[in-house]
Amino acid sequence: MNYEFFEEAQKYLPGGVTYSVRSLDPFPVYIERSDRAYVWDVRGNRYIDFWMGHGALLMGHGYRPVIEAASEQIWTAAHLGYPNPWEVKWAKQVCSMVPSAQKVRPTNSGTEANMYAVRTARGFTGRKLVGKIEGGWHGGYDALQIGVTYPIDKPSTLGLPDETTVNTILLPFNDLDGVEKRIKNKQLAAIVVEPVLGAGGFIPAEPDYLKGLRELCDREGVVLIFDEVITGFRLSAGGAQKLYGVIPDMTVLGKCVGGGPFPSGAFCGRSEIMDVLDHLKRPKPYTRVFHGGTYSGNPLAMRAGYVLMKELEKGDVYPVLSSLGERARRSLEEALEKFEAHITGVGSLVCVHFTKEKPVDIHTANRTKDLKLTTEFSKHMLSEGILYIPPYNPHFFISAAHSVEDVDKLVEAAANFAKKHRS
Ligand SMILES: Cc1ncc(COP(=O)(O)O)c(C=O)c1O
Repeated sequence: MNYEFFEEAQKYLPGGVTYSVRSLDPFPVYIERSDRAYVWDVRGNRYIDFWMGHGALLMGHGYRPVIEAASEQIWTAAHLGYPNPWEVKWAKQVCSMVPSAQKVRPTNSGTEANMYAVRTARGFTGRKLVGKIEGGWHGGYDALQIGVTYPIDKPSTLGLPDETTVNTILLPFNDLDGVEKRIKNKQLAAIVVEPVLGAGGFIPAEPDYLKGLRELCDREGVVLIFDEVITGFRLSAGGAQKLYGVIPDMTVLGKCVGGGPFPSGAFCGRSEIMDVLDHLKRPKPYTRVFHGGTYSGNPLAMRAGYVLMKELEKGDVYPVLSSLGERARRSLEEALEKFEAHITGVGSLVCVHFTKEKPVDIHTANRTKDLKLTTEFSKHMLSEGILYIPPYNPHFFISAAHSVEDVDKLVEAAANFAKKHRS
């Protein structure tokens, strides 16, 4: 049945999917049901889900407080296009949890939020160049979609005229001297960085690198933007910035900020910066930065996000998530010791790299990567009911719905792969 859906899908959807990372060889699994840590495909097969809606579902599938609030909201007012009480509660909650947030605006995706954050930083500084980290993924926004995939000198997508990326400067990850050299005398508007490279392989920034970027940006008048679409509300109630104690000027959020199951994003920062969006202070359109849209502040995502954040601010979920992540990383290291493999991640983020070198950036994560072994591993994991995508980059998002047994099943499946594999 999965195959039949795929055959039909290819007639109407390019590549038969709605996002190429969702492809599997020889065909994708079509999921029709989910509950807590599990999903079921159209044939009734159950999988332990470690993809968790691209990491958006920190509390797992069908988290009751969010689903109940959202269900009620659908009947009360699903979409308005007017100011509504939930956007005010949501905004206050974001600002009370995220250290860098004094003011915030909602968007419908992380991509959009990055686009508006860069625009805001440009509007605030009056500068145009933007620094972006090699291997960083910020969604499909033109100015930030370069240097995403390896090798980084090749375009990450067709359809980007030079004019759209000529003001973007690629900067190395975890190499502060390299950053300093590349931005010297350049007068950047902003540097956008993920505190933990996400799609690039859950590679944490070294604390000195983030601190160094903070100092550099202060010195040069550059707006430091943390893209916390993955790490925000996941690594701590205040995101990676709270965990690492480095506070950016602006933060980009996504996924959890709209409750998990609903399309959402946000960009926030110091009032002084965010006020370039303020039409009351800047009545003439040409003196301010534009942001807005049909669904911005829609009460469904606002209420769902508010309810989730209220739960997360209690903080009790983070030690649980970290201990599951720690257990997975430690045990996978042992299970895969016969291979040249490295396990990266922090908190509830876990990634397996079949590389000779320890991954510290996009180069070390890719230049010695055994792609064949990586995809064989993913096929094996799928056959043992462990689901994640994409198969060429085994990321595992652990949620609060996963149990120790679920994590142990993941490790057992990896150990079986090692046993079976002749190397
Ligand atoms: C760090 C980061 N930024 C931005 C995005 C884009 O967010 P969205 O897919 O909601 O557009 C993603 C998506 O996973 C991401 O991981």
